[in-house]
Amino acid sequence: MPDTLKNLPQFQALSSHFETLKDTHLRDLFASDPARGKTLTVEGAGLYLDYSKNRITAETVDLLLNLARACELPSRIESMFSGEKINLTEGRAVLHTALRSPADANVLVDGENVIPEVHAVLDKMSAFCDRVRNGSWVGHTGKPIRNIVNIGIGGSDLGPVMAYEALKSFSQRDLTFRFISNVDATDFAEAVVDLDPMETLFIVASKTFTTIETMTNANTARAWLLHQIGGDESAIAKHFVALSTNSEKVSEFGIDTANMFEFWDWVGGRYSMDSAIGLSTMLAIGPKGFREMLSGFRQMDEHFRTAPLEKNLPVLMGMLSVWYSNFFGVETTAVLPYEQYLKRFPAYLQQLTMESNGKSTTVDGRKVNYETGLIYWGEPGTNGQHSFYQLIHQGTRLIPCDFIAFGKSLNPIGSHHDILIANVLAQSEALAFGKTAEEVKSEGTQDWLVPHRVFEGNRPSNTLFGDEMSPAMLGKLVALYEHSVYVQSVIWNIDAFDQWGVELGKVLAKAIIPELSGESDGELQHDSSTNALIERYRKMRR
Ligand code: F6P
Repeated sequence: MPDTLKNLPQFQALSSHFETLKDTHLRDLFASDPARGKTLTVEGAGLYLDYSKNRITAETVDLLLNLARACELPSRIESMFSGEKINLTEGRAVLHTALRSPADANVLVDGENVIPEVHAVLDKMSAFCDRVRNGSWVGHTGKPIRNIVNIGIGGSDLGPVMAYEALKSFSQRDLTFRFISNVDATDFAEAVVDLDPMETLFIVASKTFTTIETMTNANTARAWLLHQIGGDESAIAKHFVALSTNSEKVSEFGIDTANMFEFWDWVGGRYSMDSAIGLSTMLAIGPKGFREMLSGFRQMDEHFRTAPLEKNLPVLMGMLSVWYSNFFGVETTAVLPYEQYLKRFPAYLQQLTMESNGKSTTVDGRKVNYETGLIYWGEPGTNGQHSFYQLIHQGTRLIPCDFIAFGKSLNPIGSHHDILIANVLAQSEALAFGKTAEEVKSEGTQDWLVPHRVFEGNRPSNTLFGDEMSPAMLGKLVALYEHSVYVQSVIWNIDAFDQWGVELGKVLAKAIIPELSGESDGELQHDSSTNALIERYRKMRR
């Protein structure tokens, strides 16, 4: 990075361009370039992106890509794929892309090819999943496993639960899947309330195997199981497996490392759903389905690595986020999948995007003087339309939207799918073009009501179209956002792969735990608010 972002001539060119474009309405942009609905589109890895309903012209795209080049994006993309230690603050390579590389690839970390290990773990996972799925992996009393409970949090939960929901249609329906993440015991209690422990397999998913929520839940699960079977510890081997990078801690917990599926420190938690962390996904959709998902990831990786910047989906989406964040002052982006199976996708993206780019220090240790990570949120359509879309249409804030939709439904019943798709198209059209006072008046609306019924429009959106939901499609979508996040981080010159911001709360919680139970009864040393809340809680607790 030659200079701070705002001093780059390419950034300044965008600032001047922004001044000329900021008040232009999408109505006028479409009127002056009627072909833009076809030209401002791009297709890659089987996904079609229409970005014409953004507040841009072809010149904006050129200027954004000039900025990307000035920030050395092409070589930074290569640095990631080739295993350079681009996670600078943790001194690690960032190689989630190696998890989906073919067996004959060669990706070096510290001089060693990691691909054979990746495929060895995939093979071990496949053999295990086949046994569980066909009933030959039996529990302590000889009953086949029918319930799979993933215990993990953050990246060790959000990917697995999102993928399970997304690919339910491809799952083995006689297996029950549950996901426990919260340290709130309710999460555990409700997840196991109707399960037979003799038919239940717990997957303890934790990169570090030290996360307090996961270890607390895992210990509770162990106690629950042992209680039901009269305390025979040998049952653990049949009912617990671990997904981790930390074999020492896994053994300490009492799980045989033969039942551990490994991954590596060059896989970030929020980038790990296609590693061993995806064991629950593989159990649900089978090894073949999992490999199809990996092939989808790989297709998007290839596209990101090889497509020219102007035809590159993650690059364009990432640069549009930079455009809105740094020039329009936009704070949030809504992700709106018109696909019920993607109901957990916005929650998944929240960790991916916000834990990655929620940073205010550049990689070289300077405080940024520009905005970084956007706030991501969303819900599946059409539900959101009857909830928060009002604010997107008529509120005071500018909220770019990513609409995601598919040509085919996995549940083609009557006219549901046409109605669904008509809605997604109607929403992006209404947001972009709105409805003028003249149009409202011409419908016979009384004068006093006109201002309330006007839609300003000029609210930007992307529309992503895919063929239909499938394991491969999910891989493509996730990789698209992973790479778009990276593109943004390169422009902002921040480390998208560390997460120091989550540490302080963890440390403080550790200190407070014994104070709540009275185990540590010395004088409270916090601020007056925290002290008073601790004292009040001590009186309230059971
Ligand atoms: O607290 C944040 C975090 O470190 C995430 O980055 C990670 O996905 C999550 O906790 C869970 O960590 P682990 O897999 O080590 O239990």
